[in-house]
Order: sequence, then structure tokens, then C-alpha cells
Amino acid sequence: MAPETPGTETQALSNLLQESRRFAPPADLASSANVTSAAYDEAAADRLGFWERAADRLTWAKRWDTTLEWNPPFAKWFTGGQLNIAYNCVDRHVEAGRGDKVAYYWEGEPEGDSRTLTYADLQREVNKAANALTELGVAKGDRVAIYMPMIPELPIAMLACARIGAIHSVVFGGFSASALKSRIDDADAKLVITADGGYRRGAPSALKPTVDEAVAECPQIEHVLVVRRTNQEISTYDRDVFWADIVERQSDQHTAEPHEAEDPLFILYTSGTTGKPKGILHTSGGYLTQTSWTHNAVFDLKPDTDIYWCTADIGWVTGHSYIVYGPLANGATSVIYEGTPDTPHRGRFWEIVQKYKVTILYTAPTAIRTFMKWGDDIPAKFDMSSLRILGSVGEPINPEAYVWYREHIGASRTPVVDTWWQTETGAIMISPLPGVTSGKPGAAMTPLPGIVADVVDDQGHSVPNGGGGYLAIREPWPSMLRTIWGDDQRYIETYWSRFEGMYFAGDGAKRDEDGDIWLLGRVDDVMLVSGHNISTTEVESALVSHPKVAEAAVVGATDPVTGQAIVSFVILRGTAEEGADIATELRNHVAKTLGPIAKPRQILVVPELPKTRSGKIMRRLLRDVAENRSVGDVTTLADSTVMNLIAEKLPSAK
Ligand code: WT7
Repeated sequence: MAPETPGTETQALSNLLQESRRFAPPADLASSANVTSAAYDEAAADRLGFWERAADRLTWAKRWDTTLEWNPPFAKWFTGGQLNIAYNCVDRHVEAGRGDKVAYYWEGEPEGDSRTLTYADLQREVNKAANALTELGVAKGDRVAIYMPMIPELPIAMLACARIGAIHSVVFGGFSASALKSRIDDADAKLVITADGGYRRGAPSALKPTVDEAVAECPQIEHVLVVRRTNQEISTYDRDVFWADIVERQSDQHTAEPHEAEDPLFILYTSGTTGKPKGILHTSGGYLTQTSWTHNAVFDLKPDTDIYWCTADIGWVTGHSYIVYGPLANGATSVIYEGTPDTPHRGRFWEIVQKYKVTILYTAPTAIRTFMKWGDDIPAKFDMSSLRILGSVGEPINPEAYVWYREHIGASRTPVVDTWWQTETGAIMISPLPGVTSGKPGAAMTPLPGIVADVVDDQGHSVPNGGGGYLAIREPWPSMLRTIWGDDQRYIETYWSRFEGMYFAGDGAKRDEDGDIWLLGRVDDVMLVSGHNISTTEVESALVSHPKVAEAAVVGATDPVTGQAIVSFVILRGTAEEGADIATELRNHVAKTLGPIAKPRQILVVPELPKTRSGKIMRRLLRDVAENRSVGDVTTLADSTVMNLIAEKLPSAK
């Protein structure tokens, strides 16, 4: 669904937050950085030439003829070029004599359950899986749904699809049978790859029964390929085939045929909270070019010495681009962790950092705020001196969370790269470069070289420094979505109709006095108070900057006087006392930090906030509470009981 936008008569987002802290890159990092400020100049002088050089980092079976064919809003990159994505991610490293290098350190949730895969191991496993897919009748262009826990067979399955030119559609393992079924149907998949279950929160959690339920109504599914992970008891059907039976007996040799640069690589359904999910289609050459270039630049990856860990689930785009494709194309050594951060104890992440001597950590603000809530003493118990770069993705990072992350995880040494992008953009678009940019807590800073992003007003004009409005992208980029699977019209309407000739991201943004970009949350979440568009993100960040607040979510509720009024839901820090005047204290704190216009009408102390499975706050549900409506659809909540917990606390929500 196209995000709602406020009417044209309203003023652009008010620019409220004042944040003056700056963190310059460490000198040693700056002097040895993979990418320097010269890249911005090169790309500004010749954008397509810049992306051609980025594409030259890959191995092409046939070089492209045309760098970009742009029939707005349909882009084709590197047409005429041919490559094999799996060859680029795996084989070429083996051929270059790096077969013994570790591709993945896999850490299962049960302690002591771990596996190491070198690039040579990965090559054998991917080849066997590719041969098995072929035996199961999967051919180039066919769709394969993948519904798996975070085990090595997940990236192996994705790479096997890529190798033979089949299109994977990974469905996050936390989704229901009906969500899985609708995604199988929309893509018309013929095979599902799954596992009996995975480990979560200390216990085996089943996946296969959900697949059985979904597939019972999907006659197009010919086979279900099942990995045994937990050895739970499961029902079996004629269509089921076990990984251990079919994959293990295949030859570990397989010839990687070249595919066209614009052949589809995968479909990934956006986690949209409303409307029919959108099947975001990504293709091959441009996608791998930008994921690998950005992974090298934004994380300053040194493949021989870095140990890189992205904590996302592979079922989200972050995992596709920055656990699987980008890092493997760069020959990186990555950590994959199967489970949750609090199993068996709340220091599990830091124990993993210590165990593998992780140098680059990429995680989400929602996780960082949780760690803040759990207390500084937990990370302090572990040796994390190996860390040199920290990354954030998924939501705007509150300045307080940024500073905590830098201090308590990064020992006040490490740059924090706040990376803005979307399922649709395929790869990072706006981010600091760790050896170049002086970071500002809470700002994604500047578009990467080769990316032309802008902040525009209602009419699509660039706002001046100090102004606010909507984030837009003015030129096509290599890893952009090509369409919504099967629905070009919806692609045009959702992304290319709000502003003439520009991609509309659906996010509010502001440009500060230096011209740097701050993301302010989804446009649907922006509040309109007495004629001012106020960003939920800014008010939330002001609340989180109060020492008693661990997390905050803010919504606009209808108000007879101001149009909308700000209602805040806060979780207090472990040690904070609720006290009668906490509400007054926090209201005054926001007024002092942002100005009286942003003073919340109401502060409600709650034990939890409603979040999607990817950790985004569902403000829609909080608006229902704030406006005294019955709460809407909660099926996409990670924990469906949260709304009851909130309701219990709130007899007074008016
Ligand atoms: C939306 C895209 C990109 C992978 C994970 C999410 C928000 C993402 C940031 C950031 C502010 C951010 C935006 C965006 N978002 N990263 N660094 N700062 N906001 O992918 O599920 O497609 O969500 O996440 O609102 O539009 P997604």
C-alpha cells in the first residue's frame, strides 16, 4: 500500500532535534580505509563509470554491453553481461587459492553446537544442493520457497538456487502457515525447502507442521525438501524428500552456467503491516555489484583479517544482502548465529563476539535498546577488544542508543555506521563511511558514492539545509528493485507516483545545517500537531535521552484543539522508579529538548511495546490504544500478548 502522505497545505517536517556530538574516524582506520573521500568525487564526476568499476570487482563470464538502460521507472543494469552469482560468491575464491578460508562460523543456539564451513566446503555443499534441485525438477526461472531456521543449509539452499538460475523466495521462519501459503501462491513456487525445526529460546521450535499446513492448499508444490535440524518427530507425506537422502548422495561437482545480468535472483516479500505483501524482485548483476561494493566500503572489510557478524535473520533483506551475497562475494569470514540474544543468558551476543574475535558487528536499534535495558554490566563482562566497526540498520537509531552502542560495545573506539536502506533498495544507500565520515549520533549522514538521494518538500523540490520533508532518490541504482512480482502497476503507483521522476521511499527525513541527512521514520507515522509535521522518531529520541527511559514509542492521537496530540508509551529502565510525577518529568524533558510544540499530551508507562518480528514498533496498534479504539490486526506481532499487557496498564488512556 502506498504510504499516506500529509496534505500539500501542511508544512514540511519541523526540524527539532539538536544533536551536536561528533565522532571522527580513528586515525589508523582513516589511513588504511578501503574507500576514501575520492570515491564521492569520482562518482559525482561519472556515476555510471563509478558503478562500472564497482561491477569490475565481480567475475563476469561475458562483459556487459550497456551499463544502464533506463525506461523510467524500469531499470536494467549491465545488460548483455553474464555471470553466475554462486560462482562469484564461492568458486572464484576457491580458484584463487582461498578454499581453506572460513566462509561461515556457524553457532547454533545450544551451546557447543557449532560448525565451520570453508569456501571449499561451501562449494561442495552448494554443488550437491544444486544437483539435488535439478534432480527434483527445478530449472532456471522456477521459484523455490525457502522456510528455514538460521542453519548453514539456508545460505547453501539460496546459493544452489542462484547457481542454477532458480528464483528463491525466502520466507522468514516466524511467519504463519497462511503467510507462507500466500507467498508460495503469489510466486507460484514449485518446491519448498524447510527443516523439521530450529532452536529458539532454549527449545526446539517446529517449522515443518507450518509447511504441511500451508502446502496442503498449494497443489503447485511438487516437493518439500526437509533438513533435519532438531530431530523432532514430524509427519511425512509423499511429496517430502529429506536433505540427508537426496543432497548427500549427489556429486560435489557442478558446472556453473552463466546467467544474464538481469535474470531474477530472488523475490522477497516486504514485511508490510497492511495490505497484500509486495514481492520485491531483485536481479543479478546490479544487485551483486552494489551489495558487494557497499559491504566492502561501509564496513571497510579486510577479508584476510576481519571476522564479520551481521545478527539479522537471513529471512530479511539484511540477511540476504549482508550475510549471504555481499560478504561472500567479498570473500569475507562471517559468523551466523541461530538463536536469540538471551539464550541461555543475556550475554550470549558478547560471548560470541569474544569467542570468534568479531571485528565488525552489524545489528539493529531495537536490539541495542534491549541491551541498554538489560544493563551495562552484561557486555562489560566480556572481552570485545577485537571490535573495530559497529553498524546499525532497520530503524532510525536514537542518539542515546548510538552513544551507548559506541561506548559499551565499542569501548568508545569504534565508528558506528548508521545504514539507511530498504528491502526495495537491495543494498545500503545512505551511510557514513567509517574511515571518512565524522559521525553524528542519529544521522545516516550522506548518500553513498553513486547514489543520488534527496530530501524534498510536498512539491518535490529539494529542501534547503535545515529543512525537512520526504526522502527521495533521483537516479536509478544498481541494486534497486526491478518491479513488484507480477504487478508492474503497483510498482509504479507505490514508488514512482508521489513525485515526478523520483523514487519515493516513504520515509520522512531532514537535512541539517551541514547538509547531512537524518531519517525520521515512516511518513505514515508522522504526526500533525497544530499544523506542524512532527516526527515520531525525534520525540522518541528525546524521551530515550532521559536517564529513566529505556524505550519509547510515540503516536499522534486525534485532539480537538491541536488536530493531533502526542501520546507517548515508555518503558522505564530496570532501576527507574515509576513515581507519580514521572509523566510530568518526561513531558517537561521533551519540551526542554525539542521545544514546547513537541510536548506530549500524555505519557503512559508500559511494560512492553508492540513490535513486528523484524523489530519495528507497530505504532498503528498504539494509535488504536491512544484513540480508545479496539486494537486492530495483531497477527504480525512478534508477541501477540503484548497488547494485553499494555491494555492492563491503561485504564486511563484517553
Ligand atoms: C525501512 C525499510 C534495510 C534493511 C532492514 C529494513 C527503516 C531502515 C534505517 C536507518 C532510519 C531506517 C526505514 C525504511 N530503516 N534502516 N538506518 N535509519 N530508518 O528493511 O523492512 O524494507 O524496512 O526501515 O523506514 O524505509 P525494510
